[in-house]
Amino acid sequence: MDKMWAGRFGKQLDERVNDFNSSIRFDCRMAEEDISGSIAHATMLAKQGIIPWQDCDKITQGLEQIRKDLLCGALAIDESAEDIHMFIEAELTSRIGDAGKRLHTSRSRNDQVALDLRLYLRKEAAEIKSLIISLADTLIDIASKHTRTVMPGYTHLQRAQPITFAHHLCAYAEMLVRDVTRLDNTVSLMNECPLGSCALAGTTYDIDRDFTASRLGFDRPCGNSLDGVSDRDFVMQLASDLSIASVHLSRMAEEIILWCSWEFKFIELDDAYATGSSIMPQKKNPDIAELIRGKAGRVIGDNMSLLVMMKGLPLAYDKDMQEDKEAIFDACDSVKLCVSTLIPMLATMTVNKGNMLKAGNKGFINATDCADYLVKKGLPFRTAYKVVGTLVAVCSDQGLTLDTLPLQEYKKACELFDEDVYEAIELINCVMRRCSKGGPAPQAVEEEIKALRAALDLKRSK
Ligand code: ARG
Repeated sequence: MDKMWAGRFGKQLDERVNDFNSSIRFDCRMAEEDISGSIAHATMLAKQGIIPWQDCDKITQGLEQIRKDLLCGALAIDESAEDIHMFIEAELTSRIGDAGKRLHTSRSRNDQVALDLRLYLRKEAAEIKSLIISLADTLIDIASKHTRTVMPGYTHLQRAQPITFAHHLCAYAEMLVRDVTRLDNTVSLMNECPLGSCALAGTTYDIDRDFTASRLGFDRPCGNSLDGVSDRDFVMQLASDLSIASVHLSRMAEEIILWCSWEFKFIELDDAYATGSSIMPQKKNPDIAELIRGKAGRVIGDNMSLLVMMKGLPLAYDKDMQEDKEAIFDACDSVKLCVSTLIPMLATMTVNKGNMLKAGNKGFINATDCADYLVKKGLPFRTAYKVVGTLVAVCSDQGLTLDTLPLQEYKKACELFDEDVYEAIELINCVMRRCSKGGPAPQAVEEEIKALRAALDLKRSK
């Protein structure tokens, strides 16, 4: 195919260079957005008397037909085209003749691609947002059944203090709510329309940028034509949001992997979300969770590619920016895939409450509560801390736990101990008493769940 810019050139482009230069393999996924943008642009041109209405109608009908033909497969993408913008314009012109050649009046591919990418990523962000909300819903639904399921909370992956499974899951729901807020912020910042920036320096035509901006659902046209064509903040920002979200997913995946190991056995994955080994018949591997953990590296890599690609680029458009698409598309695809796999994986897992409690009963996770017991009887915390430290050592020597240590041993360490210590350090009671706002006590977690549900409903309606 002759290039759109063939007039100035004496030779065809080298075939390898043509492939190297072409972006249609990946930007073809913005066909819908390219068509919507072009229809809005043509309508504005006609309204302003820049092209005849007759041509605008032909352009609109032609583009709508192309949209349909692409959708049903009647029109195949020509892989030798330079990009989706050139392909659609050439196809339109071959169908409707001269009217098609009027479409690119007062427009450049530089503002066209900036527009298409904003439209496309706005839609992707909305889809990812709704998936993340569903994941948070799933976590909260499971949590609401486990507000009394005691498990050890960890620091340094060492058993630390008693919490509940609900409390643990809600921590992830909080992260996801922030992920959604970040996506909302990104979309509101990205919602300025670059169309009308043209190549870099605006245009001599009497265009109406407010019209196209509002037609395409933007809050306003962007304020500077150089910035309009060269800004990719919205791509980097979305990639950064997605990196943070995938860090959350990878942490969740890591805990799932730990929890279904024999060392923990807090949960068991449904057979549909685990795999076997080709040699070890006993194995049930959490491959799916491992992949989710691994994908985070990829998304962070996409984010890095974008930052490094943009770093030091002079204004305005530079071809380097064509590299933005594969990176951000990959980040979006990966996060969507991970979230939509994680939802049913969590919803179908079995929770082994008995093993969670058993793990809680070892490891002295009620030692702080035991010290608090003495503090409530008047001992300064540091002194109480020391007393309990010696008791833990005694238990370790004798193969006992604080719950099974005889009262006379307690008394030996400190006179303030009484029979009621056993009730005070029973795990469920320890959890019940941790009723500070945001803590693991069932009433505190129930409050948290209520607040999370309200926050998610608000986000859903936005
Ligand atoms: N395919 C190009 C991209 O994705 C479109 C913009 C081309 N502009 C240009 N001046 N070569 O960035």
